Amino acid sequence: MSDKRFGKKGWTPELMKPQNGKTFVITGTTSGTGYEAAKILLSKGAKVVMLNRNPKKSEDTIAAYKNELGNNIDVSYITIDLGIQDSVKKAASEVLNTVSRIDALMCNGAIAQVPKQVITVDGWESQMGVNYFGHFTQQALLYPLIEKSKGRIVTVGSMGYNMGIKTIKFDDLNWDKDYKANDAYSQSKLAQIMTIYELQNRLAAAGKTDVKAYACHPGSSRTALIKTSGSFMMRLTFGLMKLSPLTQPAENGAYPALMCATEEDLDEKGFYGPTGRSNWVGPVGAHHLEPHAKDKAVAKRLWDLSEQETGIKWNI
Ligand SMILES: NC(=O)c1ccc[n+]([C@@H]2O[C@H](COP(=O)([O-])OP(=O)(O)OC[C@H]3O[C@@H](n4cnc5c(N)ncnc54)[C@H](OP(=O)(O)O)[C@@H]3O)[C@@H](O)[C@H]2O)c1
Repeated sequence: MSDKRFGKKGWTPELMKPQNGKTFVITGTTSGTGYEAAKILLSKGAKVVMLNRNPKKSEDTIAAYKNELGNNIDVSYITIDLGIQDSVKKAASEVLNTVSRIDALMCNGAIAQVPKQVITVDGWESQMGVNYFGHFTQQALLYPLIEKSKGRIVTVGSMGYNMGIKTIKFDDLNWDKDYKANDAYSQSKLAQIMTIYELQNRLAAAGKTDVKAYACHPGSSRTALIKTSGSFMMRLTFGLMKLSPLTQPAENGAYPALMCATEEDLDEKGFYGPTGRSNWVGPVGAHHLEPHAKDKAVAKRLWDLSEQETGIKWNI
């Protein structure tokens, strides 16, 4: 069911007001939904700071935007590897030295379906390390400026939150026993989503209303995600799926995050994404979220554990 406010087509960038004077910080813009999201924001006059791991790809991305939108766009990049906490901290301090406000931090970059267990330099399973802990630290370090700017945090989750074991495997967070690519990816995306709703709880408990936090997902979008980190079989399966009507262009996959980053009066309790078949495609709006994603006891335990693991405490 699409959000009636946005009509039958659901939310599209046609509804986005001019974004001049606003600053957006986005992780993972060298391909896929992040690439499209940054481009649309630039086309609406926003300032965009891209947080990417590959400087050459960042340069190429800027060249492609300029080619399409002209030279008069306000885009820059800072290099980050979300899978290395030292890099995340360095990038956060560069962001704070570069921009005077953050209207939205869009946590978009990710790896998926990593076929064999890989442990990051900080000691976490790689999808948890990149998708979850990388963004956890980034959000915490940028939070003070986001608060000062009355800005937002937008997390790009996945319908994978409802696959795998549907909770956090506290007794074996790294999947040392019985690693499965999809379960590990699903846990990382569930953890990302849970953190948004737990952040809302913590902000409310502290009586803070300036920062908004949103969870969304891109449905099933034709991007580089599986090609970058998935196994041969996964790449083959998704390659075939891309030919079916169960997938949509990467641009459409950017709409939920763009809506959450820019639309006024959006209910933070909602979960935003395509509202068509299986929530993979279709008009963008709020849709059902299974209760395990808002399990307060699990979310609190995960948050406390994450502060302990990263050594980063949120200043809420
Ligand atoms: N596509 C889908 O159907 C789908 C479904 C559900 C959820 N999602 C979510 O949508 C978001 C965007 O993914 P996408 O589909 O657009 O995939 P994508 O085309 O592979 O884009 C992922 C982006 O993340 C960056 N990235 C990967 N590892 C990184 C790291 N360690 N540090 C910094 N950046 C890193 C990639 O950079 P490089 O170019 O350097 O690799 C790329 O810019 C992700 O959060 C994903 O979980 C996608």
